[in-house]
Amino acid sequence: MKKSPLITSMAIALLATTASTGALAKGKLNVLCSADTDWCSLMETRFEQETGVKVSLIRKSSGEGYAQLRAESKNPKIDVWWGGTGDPHLQAAKENLTQAYRAKELPNLLAWAQNQSLVSDNRTVGIYAGALGFGYNENLIKKKGLPIPQCWKDLADPVYKGEVQIANPNSSGTAYTALATFVQLFGEEDSFEYLAELHKNVSQYTKSGSAPIKAAARGETAIGIVFMHDIMKQVKKGFPLKIVAPCEGTGYEVGSMSIVKGARHLKEAKMWAEFALRPDIQSLAQSVNAFQVPSNQASSIPAEAPNFDELKLIDYDFAKYGSVATRRHLLQRWDDEIKSLAR
Ligand code: G6P
Repeated sequence: MKKSPLITSMAIALLATTASTGALAKGKLNVLCSADTDWCSLMETRFEQETGVKVSLIRKSSGEGYAQLRAESKNPKIDVWWGGTGDPHLQAAKENLTQAYRAKELPNLLAWAQNQSLVSDNRTVGIYAGALGFGYNENLIKKKGLPIPQCWKDLADPVYKGEVQIANPNSSGTAYTALATFVQLFGEEDSFEYLAELHKNVSQYTKSGSAPIKAAARGETAIGIVFMHDIMKQVKKGFPLKIVAPCEGTGYEVGSMSIVKGARHLKEAKMWAEFALRPDIQSLAQSVNAFQVPSNQASSIPAEAPNFDELKLIDYDFAKYGSVATRRHLLQRWDDEIKSLAR
């Protein structure tokens, strides 16, 4: 029997539609990613390859990601929020913006990652850890005849006027980690005095947490306050940066993951959560120079990751500094007392 041209073209159109929505048939997932872009892309590609689920991913800094979830709470567009510092994930959990999920790998995670789940009634979980520090551009420090900074307090010395960059703690989880670290190290009043002094040296508060060290790598600033693994990434790229573990001690992040309350693609969001906690997937991070400590005890720790046992780490109080009241209070105070200070 001869097919009519109309039936043939309808069949072709149908085939074309099926091909283009082939991924759709296997599901969709909207991911908000607050880790570095290279790692976000790797996760996106790998998950799509493995599952056939079509991922739509956006990258936002941790504080901005939290703000988006809050703004969209009545009509969520994001299904899963992957990466970024733990404090805003905890705040989102407390504000009922995310939902409980216990992944199969949960018992295999390191204590700090499970703790994130514990303090949030399973609404968030740790996926990696990173220690805060600062990095300096060796060539620039030499060229400008500046002393080598060793301590947080050194960074407030007027010799570094205009030579320091750090992100804005409202948008950036890295900078909020720094703010909470200072408060835990020095007490709140002394911290705000310190931040006022530091402010005179800060040339720019960037939006993203790792931007200051990228600027230092390019020679645009001498010093960047960031996570140590973000400095290492630039060192691996060949930039003349040195990593400092500040003499007073330092804080750390528990990079986290949360499933959004009311997620439209819940099945796929759970698939992502399982995927992201698997040791083989976490071990891929180092291939894109992401040198955090992975949360699954079976994942391989990159040789370039800082050795937490050798660092003077504070006992960072995640429940407190991720609480709604504390986070709001500190950010408000920073806005009121630091941001608009004359330099
Ligand atoms: C970088 C770090 C991550 C961190 C993230 C926070 O990507 O590698 O470990 O979680 O910054 O980003 P933010 O822009 O919120 O400071």
